Formats: sequence, C-alpha cells, structure tokens
Amino acid sequence: MDHVRFPRISSPPELPVTLGEISDFARDPYECMNALWRQHGEVAALQEDTQRIHFVFGPEYTKQVLSDPQRFHSRFFAIRGPRNSAQRRVTSGLLSMNGEQHKNHRRMVMEPFQKRVIVGYHDSVLSVATDSLSTWRGGEVRDISEDMTRYMLRLTSVILFGLDCTDLAVRVGELTEHWVALNHRVGPAAFTSDPQLMTEYDALLSAAEELEAAVKEMIAMRRGGRLGFDVLSLLIRAHDQGETITDDELLGHIVLLFGAAHLTSAHTLTWTLFLLAQHPEIMRQLHEEFEERLGGRAARPEDIDALPVLDRIVKESMRILPASCYSQRLTAEAVELGPFRLSPGAVVIFSQLITHHMPQLFDEPERFAPDRWKSITPSPYAYLPFGNGPRMCIGAALGSMQLRISLTTILQKFKLATLPNANVNARVMSTMLFPDGRVPMLVEKQDGCFGEAAAVRGNIHRHVDLPATRSIAIPKAA
Ligand code: HEM
Repeated sequence: MDHVRFPRISSPPELPVTLGEISDFARDPYECMNALWRQHGEVAALQEDTQRIHFVFGPEYTKQVLSDPQRFHSRFFAIRGPRNSAQRRVTSGLLSMNGEQHKNHRRMVMEPFQKRVIVGYHDSVLSVATDSLSTWRGGEVRDISEDMTRYMLRLTSVILFGLDCTDLAVRVGELTEHWVALNHRVGPAAFTSDPQLMTEYDALLSAAEELEAAVKEMIAMRRGGRLGFDVLSLLIRAHDQGETITDDELLGHIVLLFGAAHLTSAHTLTWTLFLLAQHPEIMRQLHEEFEERLGGRAARPEDIDALPVLDRIVKESMRILPASCYSQRLTAEAVELGPFRLSPGAVVIFSQLITHHMPQLFDEPERFAPDRWKSITPSPYAYLPFGNGPRMCIGAALGSMQLRISLTTILQKFKLATLPNANVNARVMSTMLFPDGRVPMLVEKQDGCFGEAAAVRGNIHRHVDLPATRSIAIPKAA
C-alpha cells in the first residue's frame, strides 16, 4: 500500500505535543485540532508511538507553510493506490503535483478561470439558478443541503464541461462523495494497525474505478459534441495537440476540478442560507440592498461588485463556517517549524476553521457579524477561505461570482426559515466542512417580512453563537 510515511521521532518532553491516536484526527478533525490549539497554541503535534502529525494555526506559521512550495509539498491524497490503478489516475490532478510540473499544469488549467473569462459564465449561472428554483413552492419544507448540492452539480457540469446533463452529473457527484468519504477514512487509518483497513482499502480502489468510469463517460459525451470554451474542451484540446498532458493527468484534473468546485460551493451556499435564516435582521438588510440596487431585476455582472451587504455576508459566512476547513502539506526536506525540526516526509496541517476563530484575530469569533468587515482587513494568512500562496484556489473568482449570483437569485424569490428544534450538524470530512445530514428549511415567497428565528439543536453550536437561542424580536420591514 502506498501512503504517506511518518518519519521516526523521539519526543523531548518540552515540545508542544499531545500523545493520542492518529485515528482521533480522522474521527473528529475539528475536535482534535481545537484541543491542540487550545492546549498548545499556534504550532503543535499529535503523536502516536513514533508517528506524528504537525499542526499550524494562525497567520505566522500558516504563511511559512503555504508560501514555501519547495519545502512544503502538496500531498493531498494520502493513498495514491498501485501504479496503473484508477485510484492513481483519479488522484493525479493539480493537488498531487509539485515543482515545475505543478507550475506548468496550473498555468494551463487556470486559463479559463481568469476574471475576464468568468464574466462569460454569468448567464449560465443565472439560467441554471432560475431553472432550479422553478420547482420550489412557497410553504414547503426543503432540505437545503441536498438542494444546494444538486444545484451545484448541475451548474458545475454546465460551466466546467459544457454539459447540462443532471443525471450524469448527479451520479458523478454521488460517486465523488462516496470516494471522498473513503479517502478520509482510509488515509489516516493507513498509519495505524486498524484491521478494518484492508476491507476499506479495497472499497476505496473499487470506488475509484466506478468514479473513473463515470468521468470517462462524461469526457466521451463531450468529445461526441463540438468542443466549446468550457474547461473540459480546453483540456481535451491541450491533450490532443501535444504531450504536455497525459490521459491520466487529464482524468486527474477533471476529477479534482469537479470535486473541488461543486462540494465547496454547495456547502458555502448551504451554510450562508442557514446563517441568514438564523439572523433575520441581517437578512432584512440584504433584502433592502436587493430592493434598492436591483429593484426586482436579475443581477448583471456589473452588480456583483456593487452589493456591499452581500459581499460582507459572504465573507463572514466563509470565515465562520469555511467549506474548505483544513489542508495539508508534506515536508520535502528538513525544515524548522517553530520548536520542531522536521525531517523530510513530515505531515503538516493548517486550518482555516481554527485560524478564523482565533479571538486575537477576530473579535467574538463565534458571532456571525458581517458588519465587522466594514472595519477589518485581516492578513491573507489570517483569513484564507480559498487558501493562499502558489496553490491558492484557482476557482476563487468563479466560486465568488457563483455564490453571489446564486444567493441573489434565490433570496430575491424566496425567504428561508429554519424549523424549530431542527437538528443541524457539521462534519469535517476530507478537508471540507460538510452539513451532516439534512438542513431543513421552510421556503416562502419573498415578501420582505422576517420574523423571529427558530432555535435549532445540533453540533453547529460548536462553531457559531446562534442568536435564535436568545429569542430576539425582529421588527418587520415596512
Ligand atoms: C466556495 C468555493 C471554493 C472554496 C471554498 C475553495 C477552496 C479552496 C482551497 C482552500 C484551496 C487550497 C487547498 C490547499 O492549499 O491545499 C483550493 C484549491 C483548489 N481549488 Fe478551490 N475552492 C472553491 C471553489 C473552487 C472552484 C469553483 C474550482 C474549479 C472550478 C476550484 C478548484 C481548485 C483547484 C484545482 C485547487 C488546487 C490548486 C493547486 O493545487 O494549485 N475550487 N480551493
């Protein structure tokens, strides 16, 4: 089995190290990281026998790790699988590349994500959003997490692949989610003597095969039609015209783009709608902004930068519940990291979820307070929902545009309210903050009247102070 190897270490007692089980991290990454940060501060390690994972929280060490791609390599997928396996191929996208190979491929993959190009995707976002909302009815309860996931699957397949084929997109989405969950379980378990591992490892290889088959179907469909200016067409052209990109790399890029684009955006939309439903006063401010600036018409590309309330809401939502909530690097050479001297091959994890909740960086960090953005400009390593440095998200501009147009379209038509006592949970899995289970909301036609928010249960209270629990009276809009 091919997996990340931990260097052998002996641990001087004065180091900020917690002895525990590496599988604690896979079981509940948030709980584990939060405990390490509270006990040790900005640099810490979790150690089991001779194996250790290092963690950095806060801008200083995060900057050291993210801005030095020569010493800190990306090794996003712990399990690459045997040579010639589907697992090896589907994990061969940008996140598994380093050095010159990463630079060259990133340049090629980034072309369709430039700000000037993504303006052209505006109409697709608007039309998929409007069409998806056409089945919503006032007065019904909907699982917003499922809705946002299906919506983003469809939108992602249109924008990245020029295909409006919901069934295939949903199948690829489900296979991706299953495969992501297995990577999350098998990755860290590979460092322990967990007997479940071999069964799960085989299941992971099979899941990669199924995912590969579905993505190949998507590529074949695209090749069957005329190539356009979507991302897949661009990559297929590059592949057909030269040796710069192999079959395996093409497949790896597509799997990564699809997974990275739809899950992170769907979760950000779900969390933002949930936070707004729990903060009616902020929803009211947003409604007033839409009325004033748009007066009921659809948003145009030039409106995106002219909606300051929406801008602050999205920033604050991505601070408090960042869909991409941690990631990792592997040292390529010996490095000093705070009090640690790391050998090559050491695992280092950084976390947006912990950093964005550090009280020395953000006042009352658990409070959803979009207005804080009127007066703060955090450093790009203190606030990094899209990462930072040479591996910063290539879809940041596209993702930001999609979020803003989608929220504008949804909230101009409907208002959403959480159900009393609903059980709302978040789960950290494979670097993302997933809604864990349903996020049920009552959907009603938008009328600008926002009542009191209903109190919810669930572990979401670990991350956000929810005013609904204090039962505040909200004045109705005029
Ligand atoms: C709200 C939406 C999104 C969020 C929160 C997000 C977040 C992130 C973060 C934090 C990273 C850095 C990971 C690391 O340093 O290890 C990243 C990388 C990446 N993202 Fe996104 N992303 C989003 C949307 C997208 C979209 C729409 C696409 C493509 C269409 C995309 C494609 C990628 C790719 C390919 C990388 C790897 C870049 C590299 O290694 O050079 N993401 N994303």
